[in-house]
Amino acid sequence: MKLIGPFTQILTLDKIPLKGVVKDEALEILPESGVLVEHGMIVKAGDFDSLRKEYKEAEIEEVDQKSVLLPGFVDCHTHSCFAGSRAMDFAERNAGTSYLEIAQKGGGIWSTVTATRNSKYAELKLLTEKRVNDFLKSGVTTIEIKSGYGLSVHEELKMLNVINQLNTKADIVSTCLAAHIKPKDFEGTNSDYLGFLTDNLLSEIKHLTQRVDIFTEKSAFGIEESTIYLQKAKELGYKITVHADQFTAGSAQMAVKLGALSADHLEASTDEDIKILANSETVAVALPGASIGLGEPFAPARKLLDAGACVAIASDYNPGSAPMGDLLTQASILAAYQKLSTAEVLAGLTFRAAEALDISTVGKISSGFQADFQAYACDDYREILYHQGSLKPEVVWKKGEKI
Ligand code: NIG
Ligand code: FE
Repeated sequence: MKLIGPFTQILTLDKIPLKGVVKDEALEILPESGVLVEHGMIVKAGDFDSLRKEYKEAEIEEVDQKSVLLPGFVDCHTHSCFAGSRAMDFAERNAGTSYLEIAQKGGGIWSTVTATRNSKYAELKLLTEKRVNDFLKSGVTTIEIKSGYGLSVHEELKMLNVINQLNTKADIVSTCLAAHIKPKDFEGTNSDYLGFLTDNLLSEIKHLTQRVDIFTEKSAFGIEESTIYLQKAKELGYKITVHADQFTAGSAQMAVKLGALSADHLEASTDEDIKILANSETVAVALPGASIGLGEPFAPARKLLDAGACVAIASDYNPGSAPMGDLLTQASILAAYQKLSTAEVLAGLTFRAAEALDISTVGKISSGFQADFQAYACDDYREILYHQGSLKPEVVWKKGEKI
């Protein structure tokens, strides 16, 4: 057993509701505190001196400067597995061509598919590992990664194998996004392609992922065909999630009807959609990185929280719409534009994001949770968002071990 501390403050993120508005007064802050860890799990967090007296046998891992401890962040939506760059898209968009126009011309996602198909397994694995380990250093201890730049049985298997075999201490959650767009080399309609995936891919990847995602949008898949695909995926035992309402509303409501774990994007969601999400168990995932990358409005996180939704915040890290990949920076910017409390942002980056991944053991500093933490060199938790991502964690622990 080991006692880590003393910390100036520990923000446990405990005792905060899963859904809706949270005021900063609701944050549990333990002053001059420590956290007791055994076998990678949290035994207890509390007053440092009391814990030291109570657990005399515990080894002490001393923290020698003022610092604030938070649970590790959970990035519940990324496309970190890819090859190539889309710097040309960024320049072209800023010169006036829209994301959808670039996609319609055959660029966009398709150009990353080409680069990813051309990269060998080992090369793709190295690229992805580097990104994931950079995330981990910046405090993100659980990371979801989607396939979706392979778009054939062989290439999707390559991506999902890479995602499952990364050399990293971060917890990785894989998702099949073979329904990202219909690949150019597939002969047939959108429905034919989705049917092809159900018949030939979904049965082959049971050992590689439990999750299926789809991009429901004008440039990708329609609501009817998406519904059929997701229903089949559910019948096959997959948990589902949707790229919903990014440019066009309608698919968040579909996600709720199908009982999706999360509906992600939501930049175009209407007041009606917000109400429906808030009255459901589907997590509403805001992706500020995509708004910043595309120069588009942010998801209506404030309205969603006010209506009572469970709002998570994720990076959407990908080479096209969200190339920055800095979750803390993006969340801090979203907070300023959407007027989110610190508590709402931190909840959205931790246990509410874990809910989107159906994981109940990460995202809080509380007994029985995994010992995933990050310590910031400051003496007040409000410093962390205030620096808008330029204050990075000094130390990150994964399952009780320093990274
Ligand atoms: O979440 N919107 C669809 N998929 C990604 C973008 C992928 C890409 O442009 O390469 C997103 O923004
Ligand atoms: Fe995405």
